Amino acid sequence: ADGARVPALVIGTGYGGSVAALRLAQAGVDVHMIEMGMAWDTPGPDGKIFCNTREPDYRSYWLRTRTKAPLNYFLGFPIDRNIPRHTGILDAEEFGGITVYQGRGVGGGSLVNGGMAVTPKRENFGAVLPSVNADEMYGVYYPRANAGLGVGTIDPAWFDSTACYQYARVGRKHAQRSGFPFVFVPDVYDWDYMKQEAAGTVTRSALAGEILYGNNHGKKSLQQTYLAQARATGRVAISPLHKVTSVAPAAGGGYAVVIEQLGTTGDVTATKTVTADRVFFAAGSVGTSKLLVMLKATGALPNLNDEVGRGWGDNGNVMCGRANHMWDPTGALQSAIPCCGIDNWAAGGAFAEVAPLPTGIETYASFYLSITNNPHRARFSWNAATGKVDLDWQASWKQPSIDMAKTIFDKINAKEGTIYRTDLFGVYKIWGDHLTYHPLGGAVLNKATDNYGRLTAYPGLYVIDGSLIPGNTSVNPFVTITALAERNIEKIIATDL
Ligand code: FDA
Repeated sequence: ADGARVPALVIGTGYGGSVAALRLAQAGVDVHMIEMGMAWDTPGPDGKIFCNTREPDYRSYWLRTRTKAPLNYFLGFPIDRNIPRHTGILDAEEFGGITVYQGRGVGGGSLVNGGMAVTPKRENFGAVLPSVNADEMYGVYYPRANAGLGVGTIDPAWFDSTACYQYARVGRKHAQRSGFPFVFVPDVYDWDYMKQEAAGTVTRSALAGEILYGNNHGKKSLQQTYLAQARATGRVAISPLHKVTSVAPAAGGGYAVVIEQLGTTGDVTATKTVTADRVFFAAGSVGTSKLLVMLKATGALPNLNDEVGRGWGDNGNVMCGRANHMWDPTGALQSAIPCCGIDNWAAGGAFAEVAPLPTGIETYASFYLSITNNPHRARFSWNAATGKVDLDWQASWKQPSIDMAKTIFDKINAKEGTIYRTDLFGVYKIWGDHLTYHPLGGAVLNKATDNYGRLTAYPGLYVIDGSLIPGNTSVNPFVTITALAERNIEKIIATDL
């Protein structure tokens, strides 16, 4: 409520925020979490909380009047459609050179993501987080994160037999025939539930094309894991549809946090100020970076250091499809949850997920999301004229990612006698190079913060999300974001409270 005082306020309810809330509560600290998105705990008129990827409706996008599907064309035809403006679940946030997809709601990105829960290879960790002790991460914090998130791996025997992963088996065959290492990728989806979906004994979710706009069953989002545990402590309150707009030192100590309450069309219905002894920035790489850059430039937190806003990367995301021969159908029924990848990181700088195209019809297409070792890093800066934060990413900076992805797919195409699909991202456009699902950086660990996420100019202010990671994790990022948050909050609880 307006005028309240709280010991710890967490901005955002994604991975970093959920870890912070749970561990602080377990240490006896009362926590208030502020989340700009909706609670996603109430069914809509169709009886479902989340809408389907094939039928986007008012629930699908954050304050847009037209969908912006990542795969925006099919057979050369645009597939986007008009929708009512609503505080929906997926934000396609547009900057000059890139569209950044993010989850909005209690659970952050865990609501919309594929649940691929990948721990980087240890040999790559030094480049991911250079100032962090790898022994501690691989001995303690990665295992803790994997346990807390409920990570599991597909039963290989079931993988070999189920119709819904035919597309992935085609992906495996083509990878192996070109000599690339094929790997199973763990996920937070309940694999036993998926087996029952395939057997027809439970309501389908992954097998009904649910993914980008939320899964109604099967996926263990943060609402089922860290946040459920946090609520069970009785010490964590969550305010959905509340957006933090300012944090500044308060006269009597602590920090004054200004919060706008939002209606479901994005209108501001109330403005509140609370005082917090400690504030944890967990608004995601883009959300936290935008807040910190704005607060530094506008004089609320002028002593934040000059690294704030720097070191942002796209995790080298780039997408493409291949057209298979008629003897390699990929299946009309495709699980929306990816389960495997092609690892060419060491030789070619690319790790490609074999991704679904859950259209419900046979497409003879193989689809891939590659994570590549793109060297470019962008910077967020305050634009006083527009009153907004800009990002200086250039569209042409995706070229190294395309070149790295081609180390895999040019070879596979040559071996198989196949070609790239040119109809998925536009009219005659091969590469999905306009977007990222994996924003990272902007408040980099040991640069913008100390080595545990403290904003040292302001005791009691912390960063604890993907903005700490300098732009690339070599695999999908949320396990690393979670593990780093576990490491940092343990230190903060031990030394600062
Ligand atoms: P996260 O973005 O999760 O949470 C931040 C929260 O803060 C959001 O809920 C946001 O609404 C809120 N917020 C922002 N500003 C605020 C403000 N001013 N006031 C209040 N609240 C505010 N990763 C992976 O490892 N495996 C995968 O399979 C995938 N797949 C995938 C698919 C898609 C479509 C997307 C969009 C993303 C993925 N990801 C992924 C990425 C993964 O979801 C992402 O890296 C994490 O969610 C980031 O976690 P954070 O804790 O940094 O922020």
